Amino acid sequence: MGNCWGWPKPAKCAHASSTNLSGGSKIHGKLKPEAISSTRKSSHESSNKQLVEHKPYALASSNLEVDTSVSRNLKSFSFSDLKNASKNFRSETLIGEGGFGCVFKGWIDENTFAPSKPGTGIVVAIKRLKEESFQGHQEWLAEVNYLGQFHHENLVKLIGYCAESESRLLVYEFMPKGSLENHLFRKGVQPISWATRMHIARGIARGLSYLHSLNANVIYRDLKASNILLDSDYNAKLSDFGLARDGPTGDNTHVSTRVVGTQGYAAPEYIATGRLTPKSDVYSFGVVLLELLSGRRVMDEEVAGFSEETLVEWAKPFLRDNRKMLRIMDTRLGGQYSKKGAQAVAALALQCLHIDPKNRPSMADVQVSLERLHATMDAARTPPQQSQEKLDFHRIKHKNGPRKTRVPTANSR
Ligand SMILES: Nc1ncnc2c1ncn2[C@@H]1O[C@H](COP(=O)(O)OP(=O)(O)OP(=O)(O)O)[C@@H](O)[C@H]1O
Ligand SMILES: [Mg+2]
Repeated sequence: MGNCWGWPKPAKCAHASSTNLSGGSKIHGKLKPEAISSTRKSSHESSNKQLVEHKPYALASSNLEVDTSVSRNLKSFSFSDLKNASKNFRSETLIGEGGFGCVFKGWIDENTFAPSKPGTGIVVAIKRLKEESFQGHQEWLAEVNYLGQFHHENLVKLIGYCAESESRLLVYEFMPKGSLENHLFRKGVQPISWATRMHIARGIARGLSYLHSLNANVIYRDLKASNILLDSDYNAKLSDFGLARDGPTGDNTHVSTRVVGTQGYAAPEYIATGRLTPKSDVYSFGVVLLELLSGRRVMDEEVAGFSEETLVEWAKPFLRDNRKMLRIMDTRLGGQYSKKGAQAVAALALQCLHIDPKNRPSMADVQVSLERLHATMDAARTPPQQSQEKLDFHRIKHKNGPRKTRVPTANSR
């Protein structure tokens, strides 16, 4: 059963993925604006107008500064504080690397937030922007202004930031189990159990559901395994709000934007039109569900004979058939899952991946479905995940895997 139907096995460390979008322009990593259709380009004209009307937080301040309402709740760190907290950004404190820059482990005093000796005070994750670009600054600012105002158990906590001359850094609560990407795809890591996978799925659904609620009205736009962080009890928390956008308001059904996001995870209608709705996040959630079920990356090119077919295209025919569906299951689960539970999750994934966004459920509906399933699946539960991972996840560099497209122009959002 499982990993023998055309889709390559999970790579040990997949490189930035590539695919064909809009008429065959081959692109790498995060979605590039050039790869979108001409229809979308024309909609971009109106998108800037709408952008101003909706006042996304990333551009809310004309001088691109942190909102004062947000900065009051956050610690403004000096660069030297963070340098000291991370032992001079030494390689031994490096815990990951993404498109934005490197992430380091650091220690600060829990009351004063002053740098403390390693092993004392509280542990934090310090993200340091590598490129001194306008776009990088915009993403940094969006992260501060969105995450700084939200407090939810399924969103990673932002403790503070540093904006000193050209330096841009962010300080978060430290998530001891690292990212979901490490647990699902990293070779040599003990596979996470079915119960833990479903616990993670419920956490992500709760986080997205909160973001889409009227209280927040935010579209996350960058849901993927590497942006889902896990605390010591495998509670999932969303990180990386650099691409987040205000959701539509009033009679508007969507927000028009330039296409940014990560290949494989971004919804097809968003790629084609630039029209962003909360249902774009629902599609990405469907992709993550599929990754949780199958243990395979949405895009994987690191094996000979790599096909440009994505996990979604490959899995859809199986998802439609309750019996065949079991063939996509991660063999590393060793059959330790409830068949009925897996089929119900597969059916939910299929709904989330519906080509017509109107036919996808809302995140609130998804959350309810997963909670109900949890309540009725006692028999399917396996013992809680043991902390037996052989690897220290926080020393794994992230050079590979899906990447964002950094939009190169000033008025790109
Ligand atoms: N708060 C945190 N606690 C613990 N580890 C973290 C934290 N934030 C990030 N990391 C680690 O650093 C890695 C890199 O994160 P980062 O968000 O910079 O890049 P990415 O998500 O891999 O890619 P992208 O730039 O496309 O978002 C994460 O995958 C995770 O392993
Ligand atoms: Mg990230």
